[in-house]
Amino acid sequence: LKVALLGYGTIGSGVFELIEKNNKIINENYGHNVEIVKILVNRLKKYKNDANFNLFTDQFEEIKSSKPDIIIETIGGILPAYDYITYFLSKGIPVITANKDLIAERGSELIILAKDNNTIISYEASVGGGIPILKPLQECLAGNEITSISAVINGTTNYILTQMYENNETYDKALENAQAMGFAESDPTSDVEGFDAIRKLAILSSIGYKKNIKWSDLPTQGISNITDLDIVYAKTENLKIKLMAYSQNIDGTVYGAVRPVFITLNSKYAQINNEYNAVILEGDSVGELMFTGKGAGKYPTASAILGDLIDIIQNKKRYPEGLYEEVSNLQHYYPNPSHYVVRFKVDEIDSLTSKLFNIFYEHGIKISRMQDQSVVYVQVFSENEKKLIDTLESIREEITCDYSHYIIYEK
Ligand code: HSE
Repeated sequence: LKVALLGYGTIGSGVFELIEKNNKIINENYGHNVEIVKILVNRLKKYKNDANFNLFTDQFEEIKSSKPDIIIETIGGILPAYDYITYFLSKGIPVITANKDLIAERGSELIILAKDNNTIISYEASVGGGIPILKPLQECLAGNEITSISAVINGTTNYILTQMYENNETYDKALENAQAMGFAESDPTSDVEGFDAIRKLAILSSIGYKKNIKWSDLPTQGISNITDLDIVYAKTENLKIKLMAYSQNIDGTVYGAVRPVFITLNSKYAQINNEYNAVILEGDSVGELMFTGKGAGKYPTASAILGDLIDIIQNKKRYPEGLYEEVSNLQHYYPNPSHYVVRFKVDEIDSLTSKLFNIFYEHGIKISRMQDQSVVYVQVFSENEKKLIDTLESIREEITCDYSHYIIYEK
């Protein structure tokens, strides 16, 4: 089987190595010899000393003329990946991709194109790196109505938050390390601002709830506003901070968002550190399931691509229904009763605290004033997020302050 590899960065080179390493086993078990016939790269010169230099090209025409049976795309981003993928799908050639940006943005269109040409596009590696999650969701859990999906699903931000919390690392240094280890996107803005995670959540939720959920319709907040003081506060309160992707199917409407949350130390996410990801699904028949493993990095992601490759070799046609056409009604506020941390920046601390006590007395309130700062952290309970925001806004009308609020996620 002739495979053409598009892209040779962290993931592409990992795929190359894993195919070399596993070729014998693939041959013995599935009766096919997999051969990488061409590799498309941007800067050909970079590979001039590579032992396999003859495989590299910077010309898409050469990829076409190598007559591949299967395409593996690891370039990332929308263009030119979209053009290359559509070219091959329309010729009936199967494509494997790790490209969450493209699947989240144009997944339905690509799946329809693949179906129309009697081929497939496989994208297990686009969500959760090495964790098998899309296949279980589509196949093993097909007999369930999925009711909620929560996930720590961006390795870079989880690595940064873990390093800040465990090793008192600075944000900048932790991000630099995440880039050096190949977790971060080429532009890490999409990691730290939550866009990578929201795209993955949109893919998971679209499959899980059988609706076409656009990532750009979902509220997204990253970790760039998390301060060193927030980390100190979290430690003092036996909490941790995670960038949480959460969606819930509520009577046919969907709430979905990516946002930083505080978690309690007995939360299942408390042990999900560094580049590890975790996804917790709730199905009406199966109950709660947790999937965890390395969500970013060279070999974990290449492992997911190899799984897709072996499925194609076995002629398994996955994802028969594709992503879905129906656009769902979206809810914009976290719908469940929850405790929250509210971070206030305020000069008149005494008037703020007396007001807060008056408003939140019913369920109790915990106020922590940080030393020598005009920052106050408050833990309160609210039946729903909208009610909390309305209350906080009414406080802001009376007392000059800035606030940010965070769910305390206990599951
Ligand atoms: N930049 C991504 C992450 C890579 O950090 O999770 C895996 O999709």
